[in-house]
Amino acid sequence: VHMNIPVQLTVNGESHQLDLDPRASVLDTLRDRLNVMSVKKGCDHGQCGACTVLIDGKRVLSCLSLSASYDGSEVVTAEGLGTPEHLHPMQQAFLEHDGFQCGYCTPGQICSAVGMLDELAQGMPSHVTPDVRQEPQFNDAEIRERMSGNLCRCGAYVNIVSAIREVGQTAQTQAV
Ligand code: FES
Ligand code: FES
Repeated sequence: VHMNIPVQLTVNGESHQLDLDPRASVLDTLRDRLNVMSVKKGCDHGQCGACTVLIDGKRVLSCLSLSASYDGSEVVTAEGLGTPEHLHPMQQAFLEHDGFQCGYCTPGQICSAVGMLDELAQGMPSHVTPDVRQEPQFNDAEIRERMSGNLCRCGAYVNIVSAIREVGQTAQTQAV
């Protein structure tokens, strides 16, 4: 027997006071309790990235994250990044570069890419560029490495990478 616990989550700007099973994942909470359907359950085991959301600005796999450990946190999904009238630059770039086919992986790809650019801007290392502060670069190898947690069954990788490259390069130019 276990008891539900109170958890407060802000999802795409809206605050929710929830009563949750302590074992509930953020993924199940979003889909089953809050009807946020862009977040996909691909594998439910941390292996596909389809469930990626931003929590307090960082990309996380929502299938591996317990809602209870994010009490008081801010969750953003693809719905919260932009609307059809006001697309987020990353959403716009995925459209322009044909960065999707069936679209199943796309919300996760986009949330992951937004979080990834932030990590890059903050100088977080990767295997390709161990220290981006010393050697800043934004190339396809870097993008592929940093996006390797997001799988695409349709194999749209070339277009996904070019969409992300465009947004990343624009951001980099604006920062200079
Ligand atoms: Fe979370 Fe696959 S559903 S990584
Ligand atoms: Fe179909 Fe990526 S577009 S899985």
